[in-house]
Amino acid sequence: MSNITIVGCGYVGLVTGAVLSKLGNNVIGVDIDSERIAKLNAGICPIYEPGLVELINEQSRNGKLRFTTKYEEAIPDSRFVFICVNTPPSPHGGADMRFVRNAAREIGRNLSVQHKTIVINKSTMPPGSGDMVEAILSEEAQPEAEFAVVANPEFLREGSALHDMLNPDRIVLGSKDQEAAEAVASLYSSFTCPILLTNIRTAEMIKYAANAFLAMKISFINEMAQICEAIGADVRQVSTGIGLDKRIGTYFLQAGIGFGGSCFPKDAQALEYVASISDCYPRILKAVLEVNRESRRKFVTKIDKVVGGLYGKTVGVWGLAFKANTDDIREAPALDIIPELLSRGANVKVYDPAAMENARRILPERVSFCENAYAAAENAHVLAIVTDWEQFRSIDLIKVKKLMTTSKIVDGRNIFDPELVRGLGFEYVGIGIPCCPSESERYLPQASVPIWH
Ligand code: UDX
Repeated sequence: MSNITIVGCGYVGLVTGAVLSKLGNNVIGVDIDSERIAKLNAGICPIYEPGLVELINEQSRNGKLRFTTKYEEAIPDSRFVFICVNTPPSPHGGADMRFVRNAAREIGRNLSVQHKTIVINKSTMPPGSGDMVEAILSEEAQPEAEFAVVANPEFLREGSALHDMLNPDRIVLGSKDQEAAEAVASLYSSFTCPILLTNIRTAEMIKYAANAFLAMKISFINEMAQICEAIGADVRQVSTGIGLDKRIGTYFLQAGIGFGGSCFPKDAQALEYVASISDCYPRILKAVLEVNRESRRKFVTKIDKVVGGLYGKTVGVWGLAFKANTDDIREAPALDIIPELLSRGANVKVYDPAAMENARRILPERVSFCENAYAAAENAHVLAIVTDWEQFRSIDLIKVKKLMTTSKIVDGRNIFDPELVRGLGFEYVGIGIPCCPSESERYLPQASVPIWH
């Protein structure tokens, strides 16, 4: 059992802190935002993550987790200090390290001279950040203070962050201080996954490379989807067919309107920036981002085509969040798609089960926010599916059809079975799916060839 400080009570910090306290440690969360700390101390979680508020409150009641705005209350008694502040994109595309630098300064000033402190970089930080944190700590700490820096990147997905933290595929620890890395490893001793010890820059690079690779898989399958559409193949079966090859794997091969969220777009851009200032030309990364931008543009063009010109038409948009089970709209496809629909003269009605409040702050006033999915479909000439929420899959499509002006669906996430929806009388267009059955048959040597078992 150790004393741990978590600096930054955002998404990564709260999940990390709550789980480490659950594992038996005494955890203090520090944040400069006094309103956020007051909320946390009152049992209110500032972010939406399944199970998190319950875990925070349980651990707070047990006296294992508390929150403060004061570094001096937390750092001196802690053996481990996790830096979990945000690293937003800066105008040049790299990561804005202001918050990390400020946190490192405050940590340095408060380091104990009684015991060695291990400072752990948990936030996603570009290669070289560990050295920067170490330099700041050296500048700020008292000469007798002993410390080490360890890079320990997180691989948490929004919506399943607690599960991911408790069931990691691997733990990456980068440090030049082997003893410090092993001490951090001991915090995770109840996990059975492999632990990889590396130098700091390698650990930092693993995080960026992992996200870039996953983003590449998505852009790859979206490019295949375009080809599938052109030749009358079905990208869903192509995904299954290639994914069954163990070297490729089944995950992250769902074609759609591309990736969003707080990580993939930002991290791919930050890595592109790191490459460019390191005299490298990241061809693949550039293509991954370009295909992603294009997927959104093509989606609007598809909608435009389906309704025979968007001017004066009403589009019902289902989904605003960048993926299902979150209220997060950062870099969400909807934020590009909706303004483009409006600029082409469409009226836009939207519904999302969780992200309405966040979207209202950002989207133009002309957008009409609806109470439910049916209301968003009412009088619409076309329904555009932007987020793969489970509740959309199980909706009463017969009722939806009656409410719409014309029954057309452009499905950016392939949530519906085309045959079923077309059977109900909808004109249905997905991503990488033949427009109508006859189109795919045109390309089959014989219509009876079994292509699906
Ligand atoms: C991601 C990484 O998975 C996580 O390890 C990292 O720490 C942070 O970034 P997250 O942003 O929560 O997590 O979302 P994720 O579930 O990975 O999805 C990212 C985006 O890709 C979403 O917009 C999703 O809709 C899209 N996606 C995902 C696809 O379009 N197709 C797929 O097959 C998978």
